[in-house]
Amino acid sequence: MQKIVMEGGHPLSGEVTISGAKNSALPLLFGALLGETACHFHNIPKLRDINTTLALLESLGATVERPTKKNQPYTIEAQRLKHLEAPYDLVKTMRASVLVMGPLLAKYGKARVSLPGGCAIGARPINLHLKAFEQMGAKIHIEGGYVEAEAKKLHGARVHFDTVTVTGTENVMMAAVLAKGETILENAAREPEVIDLANLLNKMGAHIVGAGTDTLTIQGVESLNGATHTVIPDRIEMGTFMIAAAMTGGSILIRNGELSLLEALRVKLEEVGAKIKIEEKGLRVEGPKHVQATDLTTAPFPGFATDFQAQFMAMMTIAHGSSVIVETIFENRFMHAQELVRMGADIKIEGKTAIVKGVKKLSGAPVMASDLRASAALILAGLVADGLTEVHRIYHLDRGYEEIEKKFRKLGARIKRAQVKY
Ligand code: EPZ
Repeated sequence: MQKIVMEGGHPLSGEVTISGAKNSALPLLFGALLGETACHFHNIPKLRDINTTLALLESLGATVERPTKKNQPYTIEAQRLKHLEAPYDLVKTMRASVLVMGPLLAKYGKARVSLPGGCAIGARPINLHLKAFEQMGAKIHIEGGYVEAEAKKLHGARVHFDTVTVTGTENVMMAAVLAKGETILENAAREPEVIDLANLLNKMGAHIVGAGTDTLTIQGVESLNGATHTVIPDRIEMGTFMIAAAMTGGSILIRNGELSLLEALRVKLEEVGAKIKIEEKGLRVEGPKHVQATDLTTAPFPGFATDFQAQFMAMMTIAHGSSVIVETIFENRFMHAQELVRMGADIKIEGKTAIVKGVKKLSGAPVMASDLRASAALILAGLVADGLTEVHRIYHLDRGYEEIEKKFRKLGARIKRAQVKY
């Protein structure tokens, strides 16, 4: 087991390059299952969830070629699959494995996928995915913790999502591209990762119109060919570094920063006193001497992303004033709060609302990561706390951040990875 150890009090400065987006790379890799020929992907991040996805594709019978030198792509060839099942031991480590259902149903008319259990941040059901597949003609049967889905040939449907669902939109979009006729997705997710997937599928020969809006119209086609695609930068990693610069009073340059991916966060960072400007070589983020408190409510894109909530809360623990943070997407996404309290933060949780009263200083302590973005929040807190902080259970962190401690060290943080003795 490993931990991340850091010593707080060092403002960040220097340059950082953001890796490819985890939440784009995952659906893109599953999208390759739809092609009659190989897909080639550039800018795939080196993450545990990517390895899990590649292992799942190989277990289905796809061939995966990993790059052996710089600038070489990942190649996925899924012409003839041997199995149509996503097993429990893979799905339990990565719930995004449910994204195999759309492609398998669309191309092979069959899929057997372990139901992803709940996770730390909430129940995270997939009822809306399954309801849409049934509307498209699939027979869905749940037995022994597995979803068995069959459809001779999916047909188009008018799907209205009761709740905005990112992977629900992606899964049903991948089912619709080979379905017979037209599918309309209403109240669809507008995240940049949904647009990235639609761009890949259209390159492969699909007809998807409206990606990035709340209504997608998809004309089914006979078949799709492979394509070459570069993954967009990871807006959540980018925002994590922007918050880090703001709360440490530092000044960093994000080489491939793409502001359009996180307008809502930009507005909030300027409210707390950060300065953000586009320079020739990238995006400059400068933190104030002291951050001011501000309120926030999470919402689907283009609102304030729930995946920034934990990191922003870490910053509000040392802000001037009090901050009211409302988490509207997941029912249990405040587990980082108790760990921050162990570091001296003043946080009260009332249902979906956290009230954070800024304190002068946090004090370093050993803390425990509970999920991916909570791990990042605890690292940010450690960067400003007095003394040493140890973040344990960092296997959560490695799911979604590529070499984050190396990137922070290059920016002047005193941070390293260490073995946990017992
Ligand atoms: C995606 O998860 C992201 N993961 C999450 O990122 C992100 O937090 C989330 O979207 C919200 O933006 C990937 O893209 C791989 P949802 P997803 O379906 O698709 C409810 C990270 O940190 N819902 O948009 O699973 C659900 O319970 C991860 O990188 C249903 O009720 O989230 C939640 O309350 C964490 N029924 C809300 O919708 C369904 O069938 C939004 O969930 C589907 C969802």
